[in-house]
Amino acid sequence: MARKTIIAGNWKMNLLPEEGEMLVVSLKTAFENKKNLEVVVFPPIGLIPFAREWIYDSVIRYGAQNCWHEVSGPYTGETSPELLKSLGCSYCLVGHSERREIFEESNELVGRKSQALVEMGIIPIVCVGESLAEREAAIHFEKIQQQVESVFEAVEKESWIHLVFAYEPIWAIGTGKTATPKQAEEIHQFIRKIIRQKSGDVLADAISILYGGSAKPGNAEELLAQDNIDGLLVGGASLVAEDFSNIIKAY
Ligand code: PGA
Repeated sequence: MARKTIIAGNWKMNLLPEEGEMLVVSLKTAFENKKNLEVVVFPPIGLIPFAREWIYDSVIRYGAQNCWHEVSGPYTGETSPELLKSLGCSYCLVGHSERREIFEESNELVGRKSQALVEMGIIPIVCVGESLAEREAAIHFEKIQQQVESVFEAVEKESWIHLVFAYEPIWAIGTGKTATPKQAEEIHQFIRKIIRQKSGDVLADAISILYGGSAKPGNAEELLAQDNIDGLLVGGASLVAEDFSNIIKAY
């Protein structure tokens, strides 16, 4: 099965409604729709109902940057996967390093959120990756293995086919310092090997693994040319219509 290529824009806590609308409107006409290509934007939660209006007549999909793992209840400030579903989200990021580091999200929590999302028919893009200190201490493989395996432990087997992973080395996020295509491919191969061990060849060959961390027009083509890099999760460069559309065109 050919893997889906996903070019995703993580807006983080940026853009006001007018700015988001301008960005999406220029994106809608900026690239050619291709088979197997999925372009997804992740606006801040308050912009999601607007995104639905901006994007309804386009192939662009949208999703949330985070969610909680319960349907409803006393979780002040949180957002349920059920609400995301009703707002038309196709995807949700889970376990972004900013969530793991700043909000102390554990592997277990990331797993529970992933399960709650697949129950709602929303595709979780599970972010994994190591800090610079972990890479220097050569414990990055171990860390990534734990992050990936905990998702397989939490998510029911029938839904594994709906998982997407994103390798985002923390040292490359927002720093302008990209992993070289070779460094990224090494980790992507490693993640695919873990998936293969957990779930067999069919799923390992079908699950998309994106790269994120200072992806930009100048490095997108080379990153996407790697055998195991199936798309990009773009932060800073996704806020600029021209840059994000040039990244899409690099596919
Ligand atoms: P960046 O962010 O492209 O600005 O490095 C990527 C991300 O955090 O998803």
